[in-house]
Amino acid sequence: MKCPYQIQSLEQYHTDYQRSINDPDTFWADIASNFTWKKQWNTVRGGDFKNGQSTWFEGGTLNITENCIDRHLADNAQQNAIIFEPNDPQSDTQYITYQQLYDRVNEFAHVLQKHGIQKGDRVCLYMGMIPELAIAVLACARIGAIHSVIFGGFSAQSISDRVNDAQAKCIITCDAAYRGAKTIPLKSVIDDALASCTSVQTVIVYNHVNETVNMVSGRDFWWKEEVSQVQQDKLGGFPAVEMNAEDPLFILYTSGSTGKPKGVVHSCAGYMVWANYTFVNVFQYKQNQLHFCTADIGWITGHSYIVYGPLSAGGTTLMFEGIPTWPDAGRFWDIVDKYKVDILYTAPTAIRSLMGCGLDPLENKSLESLKVLGTVGEPINEEAWNWYHEHIGKNRLPIVDTWWQTETGGIMISNLAGITPAKATFATYPLPGVIPQLLDENGHVLEGNSVSGNLCIAQSWPGSIRTTWGDHDRCLQTYFSAYQGKYFTGDGCLRDENGMYRITGRVDDVLNVSGHRIGTAEVENAINMHPGVVESAIVGYPHEIKGQGIYAYVIFQNEIDDAQTLKTEILKTVSQLIGPIAKPDKIQFVPALPKTRSGKIMRRILRKIAEGESDKIGDISTLLNPEAVEVIKQGVI
Ligand code: PRX
Repeated sequence: MKCPYQIQSLEQYHTDYQRSINDPDTFWADIASNFTWKKQWNTVRGGDFKNGQSTWFEGGTLNITENCIDRHLADNAQQNAIIFEPNDPQSDTQYITYQQLYDRVNEFAHVLQKHGIQKGDRVCLYMGMIPELAIAVLACARIGAIHSVIFGGFSAQSISDRVNDAQAKCIITCDAAYRGAKTIPLKSVIDDALASCTSVQTVIVYNHVNETVNMVSGRDFWWKEEVSQVQQDKLGGFPAVEMNAEDPLFILYTSGSTGKPKGVVHSCAGYMVWANYTFVNVFQYKQNQLHFCTADIGWITGHSYIVYGPLSAGGTTLMFEGIPTWPDAGRFWDIVDKYKVDILYTAPTAIRSLMGCGLDPLENKSLESLKVLGTVGEPINEEAWNWYHEHIGKNRLPIVDTWWQTETGGIMISNLAGITPAKATFATYPLPGVIPQLLDENGHVLEGNSVSGNLCIAQSWPGSIRTTWGDHDRCLQTYFSAYQGKYFTGDGCLRDENGMYRITGRVDDVLNVSGHRIGTAEVENAINMHPGVVESAIVGYPHEIKGQGIYAYVIFQNEIDDAQTLKTEILKTVSQLIGPIAKPDKIQFVPALPKTRSGKIMRRILRKIAEGESDKIGDISTLLNPEAVEVIKQGVI
């Protein structure tokens, strides 16, 4: 069946966009009426967006899993919902039909209930990219528990920070995960994390790798044993818990420019509508197509475009456990050919790293099944865009460059595949419902075309962040206070002569490393935990593969005898406190950091030095210690 709200032409894009702006209530009511509700909403758009308190579909009740699973059973029970490609290409594929997904999610919801999990409880998931992760996410949603997925690369300390902030009652994990030639211990990291978490009563462990793990009696339980008990007890379907539209569906922690990561909260109804609407329209998803999003469910992209978007649309989503370069750099292309993937959605960093492997891995790959290509997570440079277009898209496929954020829930600015025009390195035009504005430093809206400024969103959209968990004030301060009455994205952006948007990168102290957000303050805090470190400053610099690399300037308290050993220790500290993704690429020991008279580190100067543009530093006479700059320049790596 054709999706009634899928945009079919450029003309329709324009009319739908206008309708979404002129009469958002009717526009979104029409779309929302295509979903399964337990009770119809009273108010489409409510709350107070200007003060960071939007509501959508208030008064309505629903359960997102009825929209992602149950409603597809009548006509498509035997269609694959999830296809799982394991890490090892020799291992067996798993095909999970909608009927099987229904059964497995319901069984696991019973398991959660048996362990006392109820509506509103928080459950953290720390697993590999296996179908059980999607099943656990959906089982939480079915029971009304708030899931918080923690990326498998985070350290014990990062996990305990998140678990404690959310006051999670339960953790779901695996013994270990495969990652190319390596296995990553997960349960033992959880054991370390839980040493400082008192809220957790239950840990459910999925045995995936057969790694020996320590099971704490009365706290730790094996997934398979628990599920088999439910099967023996013949408990049957689990009635989907009735959720208010605005009840939280999940928390996802993300880095900001200050402090610890914050828990971005998304709602049940608005998020569902937004993930679904954007999925159907941006990728122009057609029934029976296979969607392959290469992200990890530990990030928002996996939430919206592996799980909730495709499943709410009755699609088939491909989950891949491994990495693009193992056993060789043809892994993605083999997967595309093996399953006849229609839509491939990946990150510029993956494209750049595969581009670096040359064209040999593409030999004998057909890639003929592909219809749409997508990118997400960071600005894509022209060279990578052209390579993707020529060698993967064979110069015929649309590439959607999708700009969005953890906080936006789904895609905000993007071309619609084959429907609206594309332009290399441009996210192009806003989706219906999205009003982007560019503002100058004084808060003035920049009108007209050919302008650059800070990107804000001027009107509420269904998928917007609702709060930051446990601290609404932080949400207001971070997103709604820089520019009165508008959501501030933290991104710089330009609008070209045709009104197309191009994201130029973060304008705050957040780095984007391989498409992952990393807060400079977080990395600095981690480095400063090394007993010999006095102070540190982190900046980004252009990195050929990762987009941005992490450059650390470190003041050490003593004379340095063995810089290499020290650097290794610092890297280990960062790995332990945050995770390997936050390890600096370069560390430079310095005697002092350039500071203003009020004691603020002048990152602008450090950035210029790290970028190799120390000749463009400009006037430093107002610094407290201008002499520090010369010393740093001389020691640059
Ligand atoms: O700087 C933008 C960049 O990624 C940031 C959001 O990161 P995160 O919340 O981790 O979500 C990533 C996946 C949606 C943005 O503030 N970003 C994301 N997509 C693009 C992008 N930059 C340029 N072009 C994009 N298509």
